[in-house]
Amino acid sequence: MPIKSLVRTIPNHPKPGIMFRDITTLLKDPVGFRITIQELVSRYLDWGIQKVVGIESRGFILAAPLAYAIGAGFVPIRKPGKLPADTIGHDYELEYGSDRVEIHTDAIAPSERVLLVDDLIATGGTALASVELIDQLGGQTVECAFVISLPDLGGVKLLQERGLDCHVLAEFEGD
Ligand code: PRP
Ligand code: MG
Repeated sequence: MPIKSLVRTIPNHPKPGIMFRDITTLLKDPVGFRITIQELVSRYLDWGIQKVVGIESRGFILAAPLAYAIGAGFVPIRKPGKLPADTIGHDYELEYGSDRVEIHTDAIAPSERVLLVDDLIATGGTALASVELIDQLGGQTVECAFVISLPDLGGVKLLQERGLDCHVLAEFEGD
């Protein structure tokens, strides 16, 4: 499976000790981009998903073509102050400080079947905050899909402990 091999690792970015997993090398490869989207399409095509929710910004790159291909709508979860209409937001803690994600209040109808998509899950804070927003709108998060998981940081475990199903295309452990 070439997906993992097309992800570039940049040591000590953005700070010493961090191994940055860079998907731009996967996305710029015509076959790599296609098989990444196609793997997700073949998994979710028959799930009756009504909305694919992508998390700004790298999540958009994956969520939009996936939504198009499975016949679902695309919904953006954005960083604060970017969405123009009525929004709800959820704050979450980072190692240093906090962050916030927002969604339009009319983006998801009650009981709609929702797939959450992001490029990468690390601590799971961003994804969990996003699921909270989907919950608040009455949406049903049927699964959370990520191209990359960093299991050492515990994100997938955290989501699973909250009863959420996760699907990951490539894991990067250790080093
Ligand atoms: C990265 C990544 C995920 C999030 C994962 O986004 O794309 O969205 O961090 O981290 P977590 O699991 O610890 O919450 P980033 O905030 O760097 O922004 P970007 O997508 O706009 O590049
Ligand atoms: Mg992101």
